[in-house]
Amino acid sequence: MDYLRVADLGVDGLRSALDLSTRAKEHPSEFANALTGREVGLFYMKPSTRTRVSTEVAVSQLGGRPMTLRNEEVGLGKREAPADVARTLDRYLDILALRVFDHEHLDIIAAHADSPVINLLSDIEHPCQALADVQTMAEARPLPGSVLTFIGDGNNVCHSLMVAAAMLEVEVRVAAPEGYAPRPEYVDLASRYSRVTVTSDVAAAVDGADFVYTDVWASMGQEEEAAERRRLFEGYQVNEELFGRAGDEAIFLHCLPAHRGEEVTDGVADHARSRIFDQAENRMHSFKGILLHLTQ
Ligand code: CP
Ligand code: NVA
Repeated sequence: MDYLRVADLGVDGLRSALDLSTRAKEHPSEFANALTGREVGLFYMKPSTRTRVSTEVAVSQLGGRPMTLRNEEVGLGKREAPADVARTLDRYLDILALRVFDHEHLDIIAAHADSPVINLLSDIEHPCQALADVQTMAEARPLPGSVLTFIGDGNNVCHSLMVAAAMLEVEVRVAAPEGYAPRPEYVDLASRYSRVTVTSDVAAAVDGADFVYTDVWASMGQEEEAAERRRLFEGYQVNEELFGRAGDEAIFLHCLPAHRGEEVTDGVADHARSRIFDQAENRMHSFKGILLHLTQ
């Protein structure tokens, strides 16, 4: 089984991976030998801090061996076709995890590798992030019936998050400027599980929310659009005034890295109810949860 999209898990699989993530956090020694003798390839076409470090530590703590590869060495799609890279790495490695630009590369690699393939971020999903997100949310309050508001770009992080949250019966509201809403297929998918609203009315979207989430306005690979996006997303900053419209116990979430002063102010990122570094920590526990779910 692969984990390229949140929906790959199904509701039972998502609950199982979340449960394993919680157990891995609470009782790490329980799984100290879960990956003994297994080689895990971790491949990057884009920069990373959290994913790079949390996945290596997670694999090591499960008794496996992480091997990080950068695209400068591999040349995916340039030096060698993705299908051939997949067939080759599959002969050496037991699990492949990749961060790519084009999600289609992941589909090709998964089709040509017998080993489980994991998406470490693509242009349309960031499913490992979403598992850490729902783990962090579940630590704050029971999820069914709670309200999550995502503000900003309807991007990879938004897609995975809205599906994961909806699958766990969270109401999802997305506030995005026109032209930057999440893809309709993701809105439809999430709507199968829970109530989902997409609007450009930021204040209405945040009113009474339990969770307020944002991500950068220009993702990796969109740096040239940064100035234009700063203009278009101007009213979408999560600042103290906007966060104040959320519920009295609402928590703030961000996948990081944050562009402080753009999509979020210091006052919200460092707020007493910000959980952004718990999220970052949970990337490690939830990656264990995914590995355990895919290999048990
Ligand atoms: N949240 C996240 O994926 O961070 P990195 O890009 O630093 O891995
Ligand atoms: N949307 C961001 C997330 C980074 C973790 C990006 O793709 O760059």
